[in-house]
Parts: sequence; C-alpha cells; structure tokens
Amino acid sequence: MKEILIKTNDIHESKIIVKKGISQNLSEYINIEKAFLVTNTTLKKLYPDFVSKFNKKRVITIKDGEKYKNKKTVDYILNELLKNKIERKDTVVAFGGGVAGDIAGYCASIVLRGVNLVQIPTTLLAMCDSSIGGKTGYNTKYGKNLAGSFYFASNVLIDPCFLETLNEKEYKCAMGEIIKYAMIEKSSKCEEDYNLFEFLSEKSSSQIKDEIERIIEISASIKASVVQKDKFEGGLRKILNFAHTYAHSFEVLSNYKKMTHGEAVAYGIKYASKLGLDLGKINKEYYDKIISLIDKFGLAPNKLNFNKKDIIEKMKQDKKVQDKKINLLVPVRSFEVELFDNIEEPLIEASLL
Ligand SMILES: NC(=O)c1ccc[n+]([C@@H]2O[C@H](COP(=O)([O-])OP(=O)(O)OC[C@H]3O[C@@H](n4cnc5c(N)ncnc54)[C@H](O)[C@@H]3O)[C@@H](O)[C@H]2O)c1
Ligand SMILES: [Zn+2]
Repeated sequence: MKEILIKTNDIHESKIIVKKGISQNLSEYINIEKAFLVTNTTLKKLYPDFVSKFNKKRVITIKDGEKYKNKKTVDYILNELLKNKIERKDTVVAFGGGVAGDIAGYCASIVLRGVNLVQIPTTLLAMCDSSIGGKTGYNTKYGKNLAGSFYFASNVLIDPCFLETLNEKEYKCAMGEIIKYAMIEKSSKCEEDYNLFEFLSEKSSSQIKDEIERIIEISASIKASVVQKDKFEGGLRKILNFAHTYAHSFEVLSNYKKMTHGEAVAYGIKYASKLGLDLGKINKEYYDKIISLIDKFGLAPNKLNFNKKDIIEKMKQDKKVQDKKINLLVPVRSFEVELFDNIEEPLIEASLL
C-alpha cells in the first residue's frame, strides 16, 4: 500500500492511495449516503456489487466510449445531479477509466460551483495517469479535451483488483505512458529514486503484470511529484507531454481509430529518442535500451506509413505548439528530458524512421 499527497493549496490536499481491495472499504473514505456515483454501462455490468453500495437514485450511468465525452453527456450528468438534489457537501465519485474520470470530474467542478470529488480509476491508464493531477474535461467539435477545468479529487482510491477484467489492448495502451514515466523520472525531481526504467527493462512482461501494483505506485508518484511542483502547467508539468506532440499527430492522421493513444505515445517515444540520438544528446546504448523496452510490450512494431510532411504539418497544429514552431521534449540523459525550441524540420523528418 502507498499513500501519496499532493498539496493543492494551503489547506487542501489530494490524497492518492494505492491498495489492493481498497474499494471494499469505501466507507472509510466516503460518506456513501451522500455520494453520487458516475460510471458507464460497462462497469455497471462488470461490478454490480460495487455499484449497489450506492443509493440507486444516486447512480448516474453514461454511455461507454470516447465519443460520449461531450457536452451532451456533461448536461446529462449535471441534470441528474440537480434533479436528485445534490447538496454542497455531497461527493461525486468518478468510477471508470479516463473518460468517466475526466467528465465526472468536470461536472463535480461546476455543479453548485464545485463539490467534493473522489476518483476510483479502473483502467491502468486512469490509475497511472488520468485520475491524478486535477485535469478534467470533455471533447468539443474543435478537438479533444478543449473544455475543462483544473479540479483536484480529495481522494484518488486506486484498487488494482479492478484490472482483472481489463483487456490486453487497454493494458498495452497504458504501457506506452508508463514507459514515458520511466524516461522522465529524473526530470520529475521526485524524492525517491525508483529507477522505473531499469525495473521495467529487467522484468519479463508477465513479471510486470505480477508487479503491477508497484508500477502503479511508482508512476503515480512520478506524476504527483511533477504536478506538486507545477499544478497549472506553467513549466515543469510540460514534461508529462514527452512524446505527445508526435503522438497527437499520429492520432489525428489515423482519425483516432487505427491507433490507441498509448500506441501513438510509444511511437512518439521511439522518434523523440531517435531525435535525441541524432542531436548527440543520448548515446546508442541508451537508445537501444529504449527501443527494446518498447519492443518488449509489442508497442510501435511497424514503420508508420503516413507521409512525413503530413506528420510535421499535424505536429505544428498541436495545441501545445506556439507560433508554428515545433518545440519538442527530447531525451538528453538517462531518464531525463529537456525542451528544445524551434527544432528544424529536416531533423524531425530524419527522426521518423
Ligand atoms: N485528465 C488527465 O490528466 C488525462 C490524462 C490522460 C488521459 N486522459 C483521458 O483519459 C481518456 C482515456 O482513458 P482510458 O484509456 O481509461 O479510456 P476509457 O475510459 O474509455 O476506458 C477504456 C475502456 O475500458 C473499459 N473499462 C474501464 N475499466 C475497466 C475494467 N476494470 N475492466 C474492463 N473494462 C474496463 C471502459 O469501459 C472503456 O471501454 C481519454 O479521454 C483521455 O483524454 C486524461
Ligand atoms: Zn498521454
């Protein structure tokens, strides 16, 4: 079991607890009588006993899928909360993957100008990434996550037992982000030296599954360390976007269909590392280790057949890009990345193996 704290202001903190079986002891953390559960149709079917702990009228079920992470679903949740007379002191519990977490979190941040929020993430990605750090939101017709708020959950209760029902594809997708954490660990300035990269490199993929609780603890600690130092993405937090300018371009070019986000991140890591090698920032030995780590999880196996100029054009449209200049995070030493301004296009082209 691990407890990680993020101090969100002088008086409040966001407490992240990673513990097998924690969802069995909910009443230690939440006044269930005063809580609203927001979940989706899939989780409601998979975990009826968990859902039935909540008053039936206070269970709000949304449709399953990224395409429902929209304003219509926000309105639906808000109406259900208000219809069932939510009060200022009530809690919204987000139960699900990143989609349920982001949208329920957003609703908690605006209903009655903000009520208590608890996150209970159920995908590996949500456990390691999306439930931590206070970003909430939904997609608009202009793009993903373009509306939202910064709003921290008072508690993030991570129960790895929920992973038993998660499929391989979702597992693999999260591994892309976990490798990203391994590559930014030193830059995150976290207090402990976890050496996540070596940990992942030394173990077989089945051993990694057995040690998933530890991996969640480390990933959550790395993210929390970054967020603690930069809550609103003014500086350090940008390192969490390592490999993401590449990844967003691949996701757009594949219409968000052929490639999952985590797979796109894995390709992004591969190319950003090639850039680091070409710029003379990292040596061949580290580069080879990165590639074999990505390979081990069956990530980024092919040569992408997008046109290189199209990739670069889409990279320029990434919302994190300023003045059409491509600024990229590049590995500079083992487990460290740095932001480079205005990288020349031929160099980016050369990185796209
Ligand atoms: N807020 C942030 O900081 C942040 C960070 C990263 C990603 N995100 C967002 O997170 C979303 C992606 O999250 P995700 O990958 O968890 O997707 P998701 O929420 O769509 O979940 C993936 C699928 O797994 C199912 N599922 C969830 N838990 C399960 C379980 N225990 N067993 C079986 N099936 C289960 C879901 O119903 C869904 O079909 C995106 O919308 C992304 O924008 C947010
Ligand atoms: Zn990501």
